[in-house]
Amino acid sequence: MSTPTMRRRLPLFILLATLSLGFWSLTSSANDRAEPADKDEALEHAMEELKDLFRDLNKTLRADGQEQQAADITAEMLKHILTAKDQAHVVHIIEDASPAEQPKLIAEYRIQMNDVIINLAQAENALLLGNKKQAAQFLSEVKQTQRASHKKFKD
Ligand code: HEM
Repeated sequence: MSTPTMRRRLPLFILLATLSLGFWSLTSSANDRAEPADKDEALEHAMEELKDLFRDLNKTLRADGQEQQAADITAEMLKHILTAKDQAHVVHIIEDASPAEQPKLIAEYRIQMNDVIINLAQAENALLLGNKKQAAQFLSEVKQTQRASHKKFKD
């Protein structure tokens, strides 16, 4: 049974319910949208750091007597490549592949990351021993793997 007061308040009630539903769906779709961006962030951040560190490393290698600083930069790069290695699940080319193709792509991604890790660590060792020429050879391997990996995995 509805009283006159209830009938008067009905439009207000409907308005409030509509507004709160609208607000709820807005915030939930904003969360849905935020998720993929967050997911990608660790990989993007690691790659940006690697780019900046690689540039600093090349600058340091051009200067005389900075092998120790250069070795420290390679050690820093290794931390970021390890983070990136853990992010195969957010790489679009891998995410979009069929379940049958995914394991092979993930293995390839890890192998290329390991290749960078091995060559960066070898470059670090060469620099710690003061051998800049040998370090440059390992770093050119890193550059080649970077090019091949981006061709395969970066969209
Ligand atoms: C020292 C070596 C590397 C450097 C300096 C480097 C640098 C970069 C840079 C600057 C970007 C663009 C980041 C952005 O979107 O803002 C990028 C993206 C990317 N790189 Fe690398 N990269 C390296 C090695 C690798 C390796 C070995 C792989 C794979 C095995 C790889 C896979 C990717 C992928 C999948 C993206 C796209 C990330 C995204 O979704 O935005 N990178 N990299």
